[in-house]
Amino acid sequence: MNRLELIQALPKAELHVHIEGTFEPELMFAIAQRNEISIPYKSVEEVKQAYNFHNLQSFLDIYYAGANVLIHEQDFYDLAWAYFEKCADDNVVHTEMFFDPQTHTDRGIAFETVINGLQKACDDAKAKLGITSHLIMCFLRHLSEEAAFETLEQALPYKDRIIGVGLDSSEVGHPPSKFECVFAKAREAGFLVVAHAGEEGPAEYVWEALDLLKVNRIDHGVRSEEDPELMQRLIAEKMPLTVCPLSNLKLCVVDDMQQHNIRRLLQQGVHVTVNSDDPSYFGGYMNDNFIAIAEALDLSNEELKQLAINSFEASFISDTEKQKWISLIQALV
Ligand code: HPA
Ligand code: ZN
Repeated sequence: MNRLELIQALPKAELHVHIEGTFEPELMFAIAQRNEISIPYKSVEEVKQAYNFHNLQSFLDIYYAGANVLIHEQDFYDLAWAYFEKCADDNVVHTEMFFDPQTHTDRGIAFETVINGLQKACDDAKAKLGITSHLIMCFLRHLSEEAAFETLEQALPYKDRIIGVGLDSSEVGHPPSKFECVFAKAREAGFLVVAHAGEEGPAEYVWEALDLLKVNRIDHGVRSEEDPELMQRLIAEKMPLTVCPLSNLKLCVVDDMQQHNIRRLLQQGVHVTVNSDDPSYFGGYMNDNFIAIAEALDLSNEELKQLAINSFEASFISDTEKQKWISLIQALV
């Protein structure tokens, strides 16, 4: 099997994808039209031209504007269903999707509308495509901790449908320490916890996510490499990093893909995984990310298999399920 065939054949778990970041311009136009909401673009081409980001904030401004057209349960269903079809194409057999409740509740959309639409798509993905999934709700870190507490309160009735909480949005200036109390409450309520850290923010934010938020995984974390002591800690604890190569390139976290550190992290024994983050905005879904790093960094078939194995080991599925997928990967030649 050559490298491209192996990437396609590998079963994969996606652990870092924002469902609002899978919103393709064609679907955005269709939903805007049926909801009679005007968007500041005349065509799909014009939307794509607006996607020339130079950092996280310039992306987030457009990403939040796009989410404004999502109003009804059916809109959230359609958004998630379109992503599951991409998963099926890429042999992503399990996904743990982020959603940003505050992006919607702050516009007057009920929490229930969002969760019902997403949950129905998850149920259909299992029944029709055989894809399993979990939902992780993220607090927007540019908002207050008090607002995050309110969101946690709203989520409690849906506790059985949400496996964990996360932390996303503008990183620099909004360290994990700002959310220490609400994460403690989320853990007490039984949620697993993850946080974006070390994407644009410094290695110090990764320490805070570990020590103060007591996370089960770090999202991004690529700047951890700047701190050798932190690297030792990540390796010793087998702490997963959900790395997103095309996102890092598009938001100028790295200058070109040859400079990406995912292979060095892997070789040093860090538990890295490959993910798409906001695939509609960053130019590719799971396999596009695999192909981009495989080609730029000349990854071997063994390294590609290890990355796929890591994705299941770092996931929140049962040990039995993990072993089933890992055995299948090991059997590929
Ligand atoms: N970083 C922070 N917040 C986000 C991202 C990201 O990559 N994508 C969507 N929200
Ligand atoms: Zn992200």
